[in-house]
Amino acid sequence: MRILGIETSCDETAVCIIEAEGGFGPDFHARILGNALYSQIAIHAPYGGVFPNLAKREHAKNLVPLLSQALDQACLRTVLKQMETGDNRLQILQDMLAREPELLAQLAEFLKTHERPAIDAIAVTAGPGLEPALWVGVNFARALATLWQLPLVAVNHMEGHIVMSLVRPSEDDPSGYQLPAIAFPVLSLLISGGHTELVLSREWQQYERIGETRDDAVGEAFDKVARLLGLPYPGGPEISRLAALDRMAHDRAPISFTAPMLHSGDYDFSFSGLKTEVRRYVEEHPIESDDDKHAIARAFEDTVAKVLIAKTMKAADDFGARAVVVGGGVSANTFIRSELANACEKSGLDNVLVPEPSAATDNAVMIALAGYFRAIKGEYADPATLRANGNLRLA
Ligand code: KG4
Ligand code: ZN
Repeated sequence: MRILGIETSCDETAVCIIEAEGGFGPDFHARILGNALYSQIAIHAPYGGVFPNLAKREHAKNLVPLLSQALDQACLRTVLKQMETGDNRLQILQDMLAREPELLAQLAEFLKTHERPAIDAIAVTAGPGLEPALWVGVNFARALATLWQLPLVAVNHMEGHIVMSLVRPSEDDPSGYQLPAIAFPVLSLLISGGHTELVLSREWQQYERIGETRDDAVGEAFDKVARLLGLPYPGGPEISRLAALDRMAHDRAPISFTAPMLHSGDYDFSFSGLKTEVRRYVEEHPIESDDDKHAIARAFEDTVAKVLIAKTMKAADDFGARAVVVGGGVSANTFIRSELANACEKSGLDNVLVPEPSAATDNAVMIALAGYFRAIKGEYADPATLRANGNLRLA
C-alpha cells in the first residue's frame, strides 16, 4: 500500500510517500519513496519560539511545492490533460480551502495539470499540535482525498512519534524500515516541544496515560532556558551541545538545580519551577564566561534527565513494562538517551527503543507509518467532516 503522509502540526512542513506491506509484526516492511521536509526554524528563530499564525502561513505556502518534490522523488508525478471546464472539483476545493487562499490557488493550479498519482491512501496529522497549523495540513489532505477519491487516515501525532521509535532501518534495504519483535506492555516516554507524558500500552495501538507534565513540556523548558542563556531557538540541541562541553571540561558538575517532583509518588512532571530556578540563578550569578553558560546548561540537562529517568524507571517497574519507548523531538537528546539506556540496563530491561536522531523531530514518515497501521484496519476518516484537534489525546 502506498501512503502519502502529511505533517503540519508545528513548525515543520512535511510530505512523504511510503510503500508499506505486512501487519504489525515480522512481516512488516516499509520503504520511503519520496520525502520532502521544509523546516521553518530559521523563520521562527528571531522570535525565540513558534508563532502559530506565521507557521500556518508557511505551511500554506509550502505544501504544494513539497508534494511536488515528494512525487518527483518517488517518480510518481502524473501530468494531466487540462482539468475539464465545468468541473465541479474546483468548487469542492474552494469550499475546503476557503481559509487558505494561497494554498487554494497553488493546489488548483497543480490539480489542473496533474492526475491522481499511484497512491492508495492519504495520512494526515489531525492533532495534537498548534491548531491553526494543523488545519492547513488537514484541509489540504481533505481536498486531495476528495478530488483524487482516496481514503483518508487521521493520525495522532504522538502515535506517529511512537511508531518512529519502534521501526528499525531494514538490514537489506537502506531506505527501508522493519519492526523488531516487541514485547508488551510497552511504556512510552513522549517528550517534545508540546508534550511530556508517560503512556502505557498493554497492546499495540492501545494507550493509558499514566503521567504527564503539569505545566511546561520538556522541549518547551529546553527552549525557554536556552532563551535565558541567549541561545538560539530551538534550544534543545544548543543546550545539549554546551552541556557536553562542560562534561568534557569538568568531571563533576560545578552547579546543580533541584529535581522537580522527584519524590512526588506519581508519574507526573513539572518543569516550570526548574525554569524559574535557572532564571533566578542567572539573575544572582550573571553569566561572565562561556564556562558559566556551559555549567548552567549541564546542570539543567542533568536535572531534566534525572527526573525523566527516575519516573520512567519507576513506572516501568510498577507496570511490568517489557520495553521502553522514547519518542518526540527531545528524544534526539544524546545525554537523555544514554542515561536512560544505562538505567534500563541496570534494571535488566534491555529493550529501549529510540528513533534514529534524524527522525526524532517532526517529519511526515512517522505520520505515514502510523497511518498505514490504521489503514490496514480500515480506520478511515470522512474527508467531509475531519477536523483538526489541537488537544487530541492518545488516551
Ligand atoms: O517533536 P518535535 O519536533 O515537535 C513537537 O511536536 O513539539 O519537538 C521539538 C522540540 C523542541 O522543543 C526542541 O528544543 C526539542 O524538541 N529538541 C531537543 C533536542 N532536539 C530537539 N531537546 C533536547 N535535546 C535535543 N537534542
Ligand atoms: Zn512532535
